[in-house]
Amino acid sequence: MSVEATLVFADGEMIVVSPRDGKTVLEAAESVGIALAHDCRDGRCKTCAARDMTGKETLLCQFRPDSDVTLRVPYARADLFEPVNRRAKILALEKRSQSVWWMRLRLQFEMPFLPGQYISIAIPDANAQRNFSMANAPVSKEFDFYIRELPDGAMSRYLADSAKVGDILNVVGPYGRFFLRNGAGAKLFMAGGTGLAPILSMLRALADRGHGGPVFLGFGVTSAQDLFGVSDLTPLNEQLDLTVGIAVMTGLVEVQVPVKAVAGTVLDAVATIWDRPATAEDEAYICGPPRMVDAARAWLRSQEFDDTTIFNEEFLPAEA
Ligand SMILES: Cc1cc2nc3c(=O)[nH]c(=O)nc-3n(C[C@H](O)[C@H](O)[C@H](O)COP(=O)(O)OP(=O)(O)OC[C@H]3O[C@@H](n4cnc5c(N)ncnc54)[C@H](O)[C@@H]3O)c2cc1C
Ligand code: FES
Repeated sequence: MSVEATLVFADGEMIVVSPRDGKTVLEAAESVGIALAHDCRDGRCKTCAARDMTGKETLLCQFRPDSDVTLRVPYARADLFEPVNRRAKILALEKRSQSVWWMRLRLQFEMPFLPGQYISIAIPDANAQRNFSMANAPVSKEFDFYIRELPDGAMSRYLADSAKVGDILNVVGPYGRFFLRNGAGAKLFMAGGTGLAPILSMLRALADRGHGGPVFLGFGVTSAQDLFGVSDLTPLNEQLDLTVGIAVMTGLVEVQVPVKAVAGTVLDAVATIWDRPATAEDEAYICGPPRMVDAARAWLRSQEFDDTTIFNEEFLPAEA
């Protein structure tokens, strides 16, 4: 029996694909040359998530419909860039806190991306790739990253033990559908740890666009020794109508940027700065570890945010 999946994109474009012979919707679209946002292909990353007409989330990399279905895809096809392979040189590498590296790469050729997207970096001599989100606005061939150091992590070991300025890395991207939208309302960002990276990219893009609306950022780290990114927020604070709350789980920090600092989690930080009921135009962006993302989503729903205006990226481990 022939089954049709109608994909309705954010700009209203409609495409019909036929997932036959056990193919998923993602595979059916690819087989006729239609690129859809995806990454893991095994149901973990949710990059491919769409919604059916009842609002239920559906992963296109897993979904094999047995009857006709209409699915809302939360981006326009024109928004996506085709991933490309690039060689990149390490221009700078610094420890910015006890657990966070900052790395700047220069790509051999340009790689356009949307603020919030990520690339996959092949770790030299490790036969492994890891995903990292750009922290810069998409304006040059120089890409900045904040990378968490994990005990015995493949990327972490490379950075701590052998990486040096001048190393050449192979990268592929851009990937992801966690990117800045153009809504007219307030923008609320929530970042856990290095989840700040894609959010910095979005904040910088907003500053470059001369965005005048209210912007809120709740940012959480584990301890004062883990704190990073404050020097990135200082200029943004001057360019944007930005209110920042920083939370440290094990104590308080003193920072120079005008921020509200609290002891607790990202949610505690956000609760100190978000002082209004959500409107239909407001957007929320969450990035960090899966548990933090789940808690943030639940909180946003309690603040009347609509699911369709909440965007998130989970920093999942490479092998779950
Ligand atoms: C779309 C996407 C974007 C990402 N962007 C960034 C980014 O900008 N910056 C960044 O720092 N990371 C980011 N990550 C996570 C990153 O890809 C790596 O998984 C992470 O940095 C671990 O790399 P590693 O090679 O050092 O450790 P690995 O070798 O992958 O892991 C070492 C050990 O730590 C465990 N582990 C891995 N991740 C976690 C975790 N979150 N919490 C607890 N234990 C863990 C593993 O299970 C393993 O036992 C992103 C992930 C995704 C999916
Ligand atoms: S591509 Fe479908 S969940 Fe990752």
